Amino acid sequence: MTPTNNNLFPILDFATDLAYRAGSLLRAGLEHDRGVELKGRSNLVTNVDRASEALLVATLRDRYPEHRILAEEGSTADGNGAYTWLIDPLDGTNNYAHGFPFFSVSLGLLYNDEPVLGVIYDPIRHELFSGVRGAGARCNGRRLQVSTTPRLNAAMLTTGFPYNRFTRTDNNLAEFSRILLQAQDVRRPGSAALDLCYVAAGRTDGHWELELHPWDVAAGALILIEAGGQLSDWNGQRWTPWNDRLVATNGAIHKDLLEALQ
Ligand code: IPD
Ligand code: CA
Ligand code: CA
Repeated sequence: MTPTNNNLFPILDFATDLAYRAGSLLRAGLEHDRGVELKGRSNLVTNVDRASEALLVATLRDRYPEHRILAEEGSTADGNGAYTWLIDPLDGTNNYAHGFPFFSVSLGLLYNDEPVLGVIYDPIRHELFSGVRGAGARCNGRRLQVSTTPRLNAAMLTTGFPYNRFTRTDNNLAEFSRILLQAQDVRRPGSAALDLCYVAAGRTDGHWELELHPWDVAAGALILIEAGGQLSDWNGQRWTPWNDRLVATNGAIHKDLLEALQ
């Protein structure tokens, strides 16, 4: 079934409800032993990542058996339709493991590899960001619009660093040092999904990162585009959820940020 507002809006309602349920689980889990395990030196997973993924995947499989699913902690579903869910059950696990209150649940939906719907929930601030292709982006029902910041030297940016930064030289430190001296300021919040929502909401003006996975950014990318933002890879070429390098901005500073990355 080709995506139209008529069939995407019921999916949005379902995904919104599901993101609230997973978010409650994350919020409740903060009060208990989070069962932190290492996947790499700074790459963590908790019991709550797994519990959230189990809830999301089982519920989606049940409701949409024809949809494919790819989720960060390894769950998949091989539906035979053209829709694919990209799921991050807890984006910002390092923050979560330390009790730093900035993390989210991210649900992105592709149709033939093109993002058509995104839902990202921040259960600490109770902010539900969503976007539907062609129908705009919202936070708790309020329409989102990117900032009008015109230049890099007036821009507030965010970024992130790859988990394997200890063993690779292209680990974003050189770019970070350079851009920190060109922008108004740079933050490293720790949830790429929320970082993209913050650009969409005009709270920041741009985000760049490398070594991203499709479940980190599929939903946020659609939300940003629907809020009037711009996305590309680091060379200014077309971005797809399978690109691991992303530049996401308000559009006005896109060219300057790409130049600063070269
Ligand atoms: C991570 C976060 C972080 C980003 C990393 C991601 P995770 O996701 O989005 O902000 O810098 O690249 O892997 O592991 O917390 O789901
Ligand atoms: Ca993630
Ligand atoms: Ca995750």
